[in-house]
Amino acid sequence: MRLYAYLLNSSAKIEYYSRFSPSPLSIKQFLEFGRDNACEKTSYMFLRKELPVRLANTMREVNLLPDRLLSQPSVRLVQKWYMQSFLELLEYENRNPDDPHALNDFLEALIEIRNRHNDVVPTMAQGVIEYKEKFGFDPFVSSNIQYFLDRFYTNRISFRMLINQHTLLFGNDTNPAHPKHIGSIDPACSVADVVTDAYETAKMLCEQYYPCAPKLNIKEFNAKAPTKPIQAVYVPSHLFHMLFELFKNAMRATVEHYEESKDELPPIKAKVTLGKEDLSVKISDRGGGVPLRKIDRLFNYTYSTAPTPSLNSKRVPLAGFGHGLPISRLYARYFQGDLQLYSMEGVGTDAVIYLKALSSESFERLPVFNKSAWRHYQGGPGADDWSNPSKEPRDTSKYKAKR
Ligand SMILES: Nc1ncnc2c1ncn2[C@@H]1O[C@H](COP(=O)(O)OP(=O)(O)OP(=O)(O)O)[C@@H](O)[C@H]1O
Ligand SMILES: [Mg+2]
Repeated sequence: MRLYAYLLNSSAKIEYYSRFSPSPLSIKQFLEFGRDNACEKTSYMFLRKELPVRLANTMREVNLLPDRLLSQPSVRLVQKWYMQSFLELLEYENRNPDDPHALNDFLEALIEIRNRHNDVVPTMAQGVIEYKEKFGFDPFVSSNIQYFLDRFYTNRISFRMLINQHTLLFGNDTNPAHPKHIGSIDPACSVADVVTDAYETAKMLCEQYYPCAPKLNIKEFNAKAPTKPIQAVYVPSHLFHMLFELFKNAMRATVEHYEESKDELPPIKAKVTLGKEDLSVKISDRGGGVPLRKIDRLFNYTYSTAPTPSLNSKRVPLAGFGHGLPISRLYARYFQGDLQLYSMEGVGTDAVIYLKALSSESFERLPVFNKSAWRHYQGGPGADDWSNPSKEPRDTSKYKAKR
């Protein structure tokens, strides 16, 4: 009986928190908060509500997935993690921040929650693969799963961003190698350095699978200040993630395209540019390209032309899950940027990452669980089912109910 009451109360809490829209923050706001004598108590007060709101929004949406997908063991495991983290956060709902242990307990709880969610992406991917193998995808299910995963993974990126900012600013997590970083943000991130790092890491991986890897040729063009190197106010780990995925793809395409040829591998070209609005990074390869007809499907979560790697293998795969491009695009879009591919079949591919040049415009783009999202799962059109910074109040301490 007590268990029943407990479960009833938990689902009432999910329903309650899911009625609030998440409050998107801009990189500028993250930075200002972290710079000006960041106050742990303020962050605690914000997060103890914002994190359950973001979790509840996504948990409601998970429940709209097809029953047969929800019953896959991997998906159930992911749901269990979300429920456990949600309940752990609720323990702070009414806990006074002046309680001598509250802030420290909260910090430790966040670290535990973050670790619990480390494997959400491969576990969810496994559930989707299991489902697809057993039941197949019709176009309706396929489009719903694509829609869901885009939103679910974006929610996860944002959830981790908030947790990382808190634990890096107030915990012992600080990174002595980067004393100037504000949490996970580098206020003067050298884009070319991240390009080079990502290239070197991908090259090492490529050389484990193939006898050689293409060289890198990198150029910068700063249209705002032609003599200055291009710096971004950005999360270097996000940029690294996107570039690493693009380099792996470009290397695999190049090496395989030139497999039979005696010619030297053409280099991969990287171009970093800065204008008034956009900071763009183009990665160009001569790996034979992809026909236009297929370009959109490259962003499907289960689409890959490489054999599916074993999840139990200790070796890091170079390709095969089909998650590289869609997740990289989510990272780019998360702060209002984008990732696009332009290919010329028979020759090669240009992949362009667009970031906002101004940190005040880099607002989190967050999925919102509302009627419009719900309608989308029923086959209707989805509109206004993502946060819209132009409509958001700048004062993020205010929570507004959606309905
Ligand atoms: N630069 C490129 N040139 C040619 N084909 C490409 C290129 N980039 C991606 N592709 C094609 O798009 C597919 C999907 O790419 P994506 O990075 O999403 O997944 P993947 O590389 O197969 O696996 P992983 O999840 O490990 O990245 C690839 O399997 C490949 O067929
Ligand atoms: Mg890839």
